Amino acid sequence: MMKRIAVLTTGGDAPGMNPAIRSVVRYGISQKLEVMGVFRGWWGLINEELKILNHRSVSGIIGQGGTILKTARCAEFRTSEGQSRAYATIKKNNIDGLVVIGGNGSFAAAHEFYKNFNVPCVGVAASIDNDVNGIDYTIGTDMAINTALDAIDKIRDTATSMERIFVVEVMGRDSGFIALTVALGGGCEDVLIPERETYLTSICHDIVHGNLVGKMSWIIVLAEGAGKADDIAKRITDLTGLETRTVVLGHVQRGGRPTAVSRDLALHLGKAAVDCLIAGKKDVALGMNASKLVEVNFETAIKKKEFNIENHYRLIKILT
Ligand code: F6P
Repeated sequence: MMKRIAVLTTGGDAPGMNPAIRSVVRYGISQKLEVMGVFRGWWGLINEELKILNHRSVSGIIGQGGTILKTARCAEFRTSEGQSRAYATIKKNNIDGLVVIGGNGSFAAAHEFYKNFNVPCVGVAASIDNDVNGIDYTIGTDMAINTALDAIDKIRDTATSMERIFVVEVMGRDSGFIALTVALGGGCEDVLIPERETYLTSICHDIVHGNLVGKMSWIIVLAEGAGKADDIAKRITDLTGLETRTVVLGHVQRGGRPTAVSRDLALHLGKAAVDCLIAGKKDVALGMNASKLVEVNFETAIKKKEFNIENHYRLIKILT
């Protein structure tokens, strides 16, 4: 029977992690559980950095970006030595189950930990990358896209006024989801993502042709996994002879007050994670799929998430 659970946030922070923590803590307490907060993700389990959280511990965090529990990327947790130390902390503190708030990489680690030590782990999908297979949106994705769109709208003002080409680099080391969504929603002329080969020569051909018929400004969205903005801009200038400016949005996309969508998701999934642990579930990630709460085995959740890239790309080009 579950008496004490622990919650941690791991991997890249995402706006909405805080409301998820609030939900786990307050709902857990309402179900007569003790809830411990682990600091800095897996690192905190390895180094026994954790404490009991009460109702007041999560006051005032519902609208804050980031995570009050801190987060980290922890290479040590990938070693059997690291996992053994984490397990020792679990045993010593009588923790019966773990809520892991994170993305694809965090769930891969939770899955290994469950397999090796049989610790019940339930995942709450939170990452700006929307990289959890089997669910529609991870907590934080919506916020990151809106932040990038806000920037693109502003860049458009100066791009059209000064008739320039811009390469705007957005996050997404392995996934072009943010870039494609931002390119479509921002009315951008082209997009470069890791999953799709797009030829710069063909983009440059379009730019030169566009210039001849009076289209003088271009915004090309670049996912960080598809190259560096400065390199792409230089190649565009070399091929077209036109001045090309760059903007790297970077970690700006990870911050800010979570949107209504991310908060709603976080608050529902936090509660559902506690319910799952009480019901004896383990080794699953939680998310929404077609407006329904779904449990996805970690093994499935960590597979490469597919989305309809070609449809998206075609629409971007048709609407340009
Ligand atoms: O996983 C989220 C993410 O923001 C990715 O889009 C990005 O590639 C990565 O994290 C950056 O990580 P870090 O902040 O550790 O450099």
